[in-house]
Amino acid sequence: MKHPKCVNSECKTCECNLCCTKINNFGVKRSGIEILKDVNLHIHCGDLTAVIGPNGAGKSTLLKAILGEISHTGELQFLDANNGITRPSMGYVPQKLDLDSTSPTSVLDLFAAAHTNIPIWVGYPKRIREGVRESLARTHGEHLINKRLGGLSGGELQRVLLALALDPIPHLLLLDEPVSGIDQKGLELFYQTVSTLRKNYDLSIILVSHDLNLVAEYADRVAFVNNKTIECCGTPQEVFTNEKVIQTFGLDWSNRFQKDEKDRVANALMV
Ligand SMILES: Nc1ncnc2c1ncn2[C@@H]1O[C@H](COP(=O)(O)OP(=O)(O)OP(=O)(O)O)[C@@H](O)[C@H]1O
Ligand SMILES: [Mg+2]
Repeated sequence: MKHPKCVNSECKTCECNLCCTKINNFGVKRSGIEILKDVNLHIHCGDLTAVIGPNGAGKSTLLKAILGEISHTGELQFLDANNGITRPSMGYVPQKLDLDSTSPTSVLDLFAAAHTNIPIWVGYPKRIREGVRESLARTHGEHLINKRLGGLSGGELQRVLLALALDPIPHLLLLDEPVSGIDQKGLELFYQTVSTLRKNYDLSIILVSHDLNLVAEYADRVAFVNNKTIECCGTPQEVFTNEKVIQTFGLDWSNRFQKDEKDRVANALMV
């Protein structure tokens, strides 16, 4: 199906003037067991693609394979607006992070360690401190700069990790259930922030989520991972009215999605 943003009448999904990331025929085996096969995904810049699926379906595995953290078959292509093919730069927020809650490491230390070779005991020049503050401001986290990592709440930590993943702005941002354990207000703030960022920076985002209501509200595209592959991919309306998706989640989502796209958000919020 032609991408809705595509302006090129000759476009066969990807031969358009937009940059995009293509995942072609990905397969992953771990300990000799096939986890993913024949995974194909096409993501345009500026799109938020949500990856949904049951526990153990392979969502985190897919993100780690895209990152190159685990080996896979198939290929990953990034086509820039001029159709040059390169490997995309990536930012990543993992599903879980084990932090030593007693460690004195601060948010500033974390950013400085990621971007400079300055030893921690030297103190940071003003320009570093200002740069970190600017990065944190992207996710409304500038007030967290001097906090200890171990002392951050779940929502604060995710804000810091998201800011770190965006410094520098990547082609592709991978978010693996970055809001598990966060209250409803924090969840909505996170989705709003991510949604704004993708527009401001023309960022491609792949977001793994179990929150189908927020996915329905914010995602441009949804990919349903099941039985080791992407079984269904399309707009939220297309995916949430798919029979396999309805069976898997045990909800009659089709009642909540009217044909009229204008009703999409309102219907999702009624859940
Ligand atoms: N290192 C590993 N060795 C062998 N199997 C693994 C390994 N890591 C994950 N798996 C298996 O791969 C499958 C997919 O795991 P994955 O973590 O990708 O699922 P998921 O869709 O992210 O699940 P969840 O929604 O619970 O986070 C699971 O069956 C899991 O047991
Ligand atoms: Mg996972």
